[in-house]
Amino acid sequence: MNPFIFRNPTKLLFGKGQNSALAAEVQKYGQRVLLVYGGGSIKRNGLYDQVIGQLQSINASVVELAGVEPNPRLTTVQKGIDLCREHDVELVLAVGGGSVIDASKAIAVGAKFDGDFWDVITKKAKPTGALPLGTILTLAATGSEMNANSVITNWEINQKLGWNSVYSYPAFSILDPKNTLTVPRDQTVYGIVDMMSHVIEAYFHKADNTPLQDRIMESILLTVIETAPKLLDDLENEEHRETILYCGTMALNGITQMGLQGDWATHNMEHAVSAVYDIPHAGGLAILFPHWLAYTLDERIERHVQLATRVFNVDPAGKSDQDIAKEGIARLTEFWTSLGAPNKLADYEIDDSQVARMAEIASNRGEFGNFKKLAKADVEKILTAAL
Ligand code: NZQ
Ligand code: ZN
Repeated sequence: MNPFIFRNPTKLLFGKGQNSALAAEVQKYGQRVLLVYGGGSIKRNGLYDQVIGQLQSINASVVELAGVEPNPRLTTVQKGIDLCREHDVELVLAVGGGSVIDASKAIAVGAKFDGDFWDVITKKAKPTGALPLGTILTLAATGSEMNANSVITNWEINQKLGWNSVYSYPAFSILDPKNTLTVPRDQTVYGIVDMMSHVIEAYFHKADNTPLQDRIMESILLTVIETAPKLLDDLENEEHRETILYCGTMALNGITQMGLQGDWATHNMEHAVSAVYDIPHAGGLAILFPHWLAYTLDERIERHVQLATRVFNVDPAGKSDQDIAKEGIARLTEFWTSLGAPNKLADYEIDDSQVARMAEIASNRGEFGNFKKLAKADVEKILTAAL
């Protein structure tokens, strides 16, 4: 394995009843709070009232930024930064899914940055600090609740870019499975695909001697594969929600990637697709991942074979490595399709007209992917196969 240093400063408050810890956590950081949320799901399921009740109990003064869109936009981030400055905010509190948390990370860091925040996202400028950020996660998917990543879309130039910084870890994150009971079926499926994709991105690495890392990743995948169908049959089952919530955090809080570097090309390609078509992130992943896997069979086939046999129960007897790997890919696609995930770009009415443009967007910062390097021509082939 590669030498590594691991530090994750986020305080995780996980489990039933943890919402009640909010007031005490907020009080550690101050009284003036920017409450950030999305399109209104927290108002419909009662979480908003609970949050306001707790903030009132400590006499916090609350400014709100509502309407953070899925695939959050730079313009919304800018509004949040302005509110922080105008009201001298002491804590940013994100209540929502990955989009709300990602936007809040950008707001918290942007509030302490003097300049155009897009320059931080594009790595032209370095961030200098951040307001503390607290989160209440309402959707199991991205892992944003316990990592430093954020993905922001600059819609004016069709760029959707991931960035991170040492300042953008949440100070605390509250994960109560009850908060996820109202996630609709389609978003539940997307969340499941997203967390599995995070593990698969990490699984395709070039480090040697990673037996524990591999087993941790396989455990997460096997747990998701076992739980997902049960949850989709019973969306309000708190135990299944709890299991999936924990899997989502573990899939991208850094634990799986100790001592190895994952590939992440599929995420980059997906971000290019959603920068042009504004589709759900994991809908794009469900379509692209099998094609990326098929495209990379010439790299370290043993990783493909191990995933196929250990996670997708492919019987290797009498088969070539290529056939085992291909059977594994087919089982992954079959699993996602059985949950109701899309499996071709046409499912979002995407045709070949923008393939070259999306390939250009994905590769405009040079070749990418740590397991297999991809250039524009490779992306075009993968996208075309996914049509
Ligand atoms: O906006 P509201 O009304 O809250 O509704 C949301 C939204 O429509 C709804 N929802 C969330 N919690 C709910 C709920 N509806 C009912 N009950 C609840 N409890 O779900 C919809 C989708 O929400 P969103 O936050 O967009 O989903 P997700 O958590 O999947 O986040 C997606 C974003 O995260 C980025 C993606 O690219 C995308 O922009 N990612 C962030 C990562 C990270 N920070 O580490 C990594 C990921 O790979 C990903 O790229
Ligand atoms: Zn993802």
